[in-house]
Amino acid sequence: MTWWTEARFGMFIHWGLYALPARHEWVRSRERQSDEAYARYFARFDPDLYDPREWARTARRTGMKYVVVTTKHHDGFCLWDSKLTDFKAPLSPAGRDLIRPLVDALRDEGLRIGFYHSLLDWHHPEYTVDRFHPLRDDPAFVEGARGRDIGRYADYLAGQIRELLTEYGRIDTLFLDYSFPGPEGKCREDWRSERLLALIRELQPEILVNDRLDLLDFPGGWDYRTPEQFMPREGFRFDGRPVPWETCQTFSGSWGYDRDESTWKSVRQLIVLLAETVSKGGNLLLNVGPTGRGLFDNRAMDRLRGIGEWMSLNGRSIHGCGQAPAEFPKPPNGLLTYNAAAGRAYVHVLEWPPGVLTLDGLAGRVEYAQLLHDASELPFVGAGGETGFMPGRRDAGPSDALTLRLPVRQPDVEVPVIELFLKRP
Ligand code: GLC
Repeated sequence: MTWWTEARFGMFIHWGLYALPARHEWVRSRERQSDEAYARYFARFDPDLYDPREWARTARRTGMKYVVVTTKHHDGFCLWDSKLTDFKAPLSPAGRDLIRPLVDALRDEGLRIGFYHSLLDWHHPEYTVDRFHPLRDDPAFVEGARGRDIGRYADYLAGQIRELLTEYGRIDTLFLDYSFPGPEGKCREDWRSERLLALIRELQPEILVNDRLDLLDFPGGWDYRTPEQFMPREGFRFDGRPVPWETCQTFSGSWGYDRDESTWKSVRQLIVLLAETVSKGGNLLLNVGPTGRGLFDNRAMDRLRGIGEWMSLNGRSIHGCGQAPAEFPKPPNGLLTYNAAAGRAYVHVLEWPPGVLTLDGLAGRVEYAQLLHDASELPFVGAGGETGFMPGRRDAGPSDALTLRLPVRQPDVEVPVIELFLKRP
């Protein structure tokens, strides 16, 4: 897990036929589309501007250390050259395996590689009708599907996982999505989850697997938790102990490219989301939905560039960081991340205070302080340390507090970061 917890920040990519209707990756289910209706997107999927090297460079420039890409989403369309189906990119106008050049480009950029793979499959002839199947409301289809054998689908699922984990070199993470037990649902029995997980671990012993095989209570059934589209109040715990967790989030209200969806988070919101996630000991997997031409659209690129600019100066407060010890309380109007190995703490200042910032519990713990983006010193006062704060002025703060003198005006940084060099214990 070390590389993963130190990485802290990754790119999610949701790409496939649903980029063409451009109104959410669940479009086929939401609109009850038949195979024939959805086939028009297969016939038109021609990402002529797809440049996986540019995708990989963009992820790296944004400060992301790993990329998780959809190999197959719920619609069943496969982006790689699977031998087990014709519903795949090489047989569409795309005319080639779209995963292989991306895997190669990611490796060239020094990024780790994750595959997202849907357990659901609305195209496969043995996949049984459930509460999400696109044709669940079509009595004739439902009647005709009664003879389907989910066991044969589970074999197909395992066969494709075998292809993905043997033909593309080392794969670092596997994001399986997702189990939905209950009425008309699907769970571990449907997927043959224990058999599938054993295969995964046999083929790629180092791979990190997420928590959606319906094996939460199964020893070794998952390596990290995946809160989706929300910020946990505190770091994830399981059986009373902290566990690795990664929140996956979108820029807007859709994972797949959605042309008209307008709820796009700002750069500032996304930076705060990243810092808050790390301050709670988690990873952020931030999603891009490329267009049917194979591009990250301008809305996505604006945000990736904005985050990348901030990360180029402040990445030290994210990479290799995590939750601070309990005795370092959360700063007022701020977030705290902590790099134990480096002996440094980072204050992400969300509301710039005019003049001073008081940090409880840190008096005597800090030997030097600076603004991270330009390494400009921040004088401070606090028990056992006075660094030219304002000689003679004693802060009225609590005895265990450290008071930093700040420039009155916020520095020209979206979210300014204060780097605290801690005294070695
Ligand atoms: C939800 C969505 C799915 C998306 C996934 C990402 O399961 O339904 O479309 O791929 O979240 O975690």
